[in-house]
Amino acid sequence: MFENYVSKTSKSKALYERAKRVLPAGVSYGIRFFEPYPFYTARANGSKLYDVDGNEYIDFWLGHTALILGHSPPAVVKAVRRQLENGTHYGTCHELEIALAEQVAKMVPNAEMVRFTNSGTEANMYAVRLARAHTGRSKIAKFEGGWHGGYDALHMGVKYPFNIPESAGLTSGTLQDTILLPFNDLEGVKERLKNEEVAAIVIEPVLGAGGGISAEKEFLKGLREFCDDKGILLIFDEVITGFRMAPGGAQQYYNVPPDITVFGKILGGGFPIGAFCGCRGLMERLDTLRYERPLHSFHGGTFTANPITMTAGLTTLKILEDGKLINQLNRLGDKIREQLRETFETYNVDVQVTGASSIFNTHFTRERAKNADAAFKADRKKLVDYHLRLIANGVFFLPTHTGALSTAHSKADTEKLFSETKEYAKNVKRHR
Ligand SMILES: Cc1ncc(COP(=O)(O)O)c(C=O)c1O
Repeated sequence: MFENYVSKTSKSKALYERAKRVLPAGVSYGIRFFEPYPFYTARANGSKLYDVDGNEYIDFWLGHTALILGHSPPAVVKAVRRQLENGTHYGTCHELEIALAEQVAKMVPNAEMVRFTNSGTEANMYAVRLARAHTGRSKIAKFEGGWHGGYDALHMGVKYPFNIPESAGLTSGTLQDTILLPFNDLEGVKERLKNEEVAAIVIEPVLGAGGGISAEKEFLKGLREFCDDKGILLIFDEVITGFRMAPGGAQQYYNVPPDITVFGKILGGGFPIGAFCGCRGLMERLDTLRYERPLHSFHGGTFTANPITMTAGLTTLKILEDGKLINQLNRLGDKIREQLRETFETYNVDVQVTGASSIFNTHFTRERAKNADAAFKADRKKLVDYHLRLIANGVFFLPTHTGALSTAHSKADTEKLFSETKEYAKNVKRHR
């Protein structure tokens, strides 16, 4: 299975051997490892990654789905170059942070006020703290299969089986204070929370790491009503869906308003970022001039709102603001899902192609993928095979992970995805 890949990636193999000595598992993030070893990227541009052996890959992973304009979009490069001459990091207040916050407030229905962080993990962490501070409650609820980063309170129930702690080092207090909920199952949510007082329910409107599975609109609406009823804050983790599904994110796409929204990825225009936002009444809890210890909810960080990220993010959001490119990508996403489904159907391979907007994944199962269980119980080995075959032929998905589209993808790029998928589907059929 690996022959083709190994024969083309000898320099990557050597780098991997070197990496293993100094980086645990040879990587800087566990999910970036795949068998037999990851390729090492030398450069990237537009829709393509180029590895150290000179291989070219059409990139559907897009830096963990962050790069909606592709790699190094000229407008962002120009803005960042200009900023590099004027300072990379001030640690003081500056106009760009106001401009980006204003831009977010203009685009996102729920965002009156914004605070920036350096990652989605951090933004979720501070959002949870804010929810606890505001409600005076300790418990947090999240969904099975939901991924919100490595923060203790939310690093639970990510992979199937959901009852095994995701990591060593989580305290029993942490485990007790987080409640897992069934995705797309409102009655199940109500049942599990019937005797609980929770500060917030955190949800990804489309499960990303959990298989590219979209929440049903009626489910989100029901969740909103349930939260209102119980005085629970609803947090949308829009780290993937933000500025991708619509200019105002999933909350605009589904027309369901959360209380707190968390962003990351696209908002940074290719640079590290996170943010959380909400209405003034909530966000003012972060204002140390209004709330003194112990009543205020702390947030901060050395590199928060650094001017490089701010200018890259602002440039990106201005390009996305009118929704035209986003709508184009949404239509392309529909086409891709349809075409992949048809291709597998032609060769009688059971798959569920999941996703919404410009994100998509493939699960080798007959069972409709309504939640992350279905994705995890599908034939993961087949999915790895499929993605590895694509990689060996110049199409990159991080094996098993959800793919995304960028405005840099060309017709030739998507045609190549279709033709390689067809070859794979034919092959699967032959080997049955
Ligand atoms: C939905 C979601 N939330 C939060 C995170 C964590 O963001 P970060 O990796 O920037 O900490 C991710 C990252 O993949 C994500 O997909």
